[in-house]
Amino acid sequence: MVPTLEKPSKADTPKSVSTWTGEAREHAVQRMFTAIAGFYDLNNSLLSFGLHHHWKKRAMQYVASVQGGRALDLGAGTGDLAILLDQHGGQTGQVVAADLNEAMLRVGLGKIQEKGLGDRISCFQMNAEHLTFQDNTFDTVTAGFCIRNVGNRSQAFTEIRRVLKPGGRFVCLEFSQPTTAVLRALYDFYSFKLLPWVGTVVARDGTGVYEYLPASIRTFPDQERLRELLLKAGFQQVDYHNLSGGIVAIHIAVK
Ligand SMILES: C[S@@+](CC[C@H](N)C(=O)[O-])C[C@H]1O[C@@H](n2cnc3c(N)ncnc32)[C@H](O)[C@@H]1O
Repeated sequence: MVPTLEKPSKADTPKSVSTWTGEAREHAVQRMFTAIAGFYDLNNSLLSFGLHHHWKKRAMQYVASVQGGRALDLGAGTGDLAILLDQHGGQTGQVVAADLNEAMLRVGLGKIQEKGLGDRISCFQMNAEHLTFQDNTFDTVTAGFCIRNVGNRSQAFTEIRRVLKPGGRFVCLEFSQPTTAVLRALYDFYSFKLLPWVGTVVARDGTGVYEYLPASIRTFPDQERLRELLLKAGFQQVDYHNLSGGIVAIHIAVK
């Protein structure tokens, strides 16, 4: 369990958090997600114009259906991907929804129980950098918009590879780099001008999350660099597909 967290302070969550590592980053990320958990789903839908549902369904196209299979969703947050994953394991399949943040996971657990999936999807609080599962446990690992927040990504990738069965797939859905100059310019305006304005003026945000979000996207490896990091972590084959002109990319890494 995480200790009870104090109210987030602006000083703890500047946009520079995206470049921090170690405990300081983990605590800042924890504070942000604790603060936004209650309205994460609504904000996500508003800020992505509902596109996140489409991106998540697209990610599922790269998940192999394994009857009675075991799947892990990392950074599961409010549970959308874990719930979609449930359809890939059949009646006897098992899904684990794991997240660093208790508040996000509690919202996810509520949605899972509401859908009557409590016996097939279990929730665990844990850090992607230190997975507590045995080697070769899962047929599939997914991560939706999580890896960008992880301090030591190489370690997380090594851990993900370790808990996957040989031949198992890691499907990583994450913000990436738009592929055309026009789209990049529009996206930069939206991210660095509009979003912080919405955050401060409209949402009266005190967490700094609307500044952290674009900064964390800007400092995240692009499609090719992420592919290289995954190969370096020992995955045998890594492919990726751009969505919405590269605003989002899905990487599929095979152990
Ligand atoms: C942007 S949310 C995405 C939630 C959900 N996957 C979705 O797509 O809607 C990122 C989630 O990753 C979690 N997270 C951040 N760092 C993490 C880490 N090191 N290990 C596990 N989860 C982490 C956060 O707590 C948060 O719930």
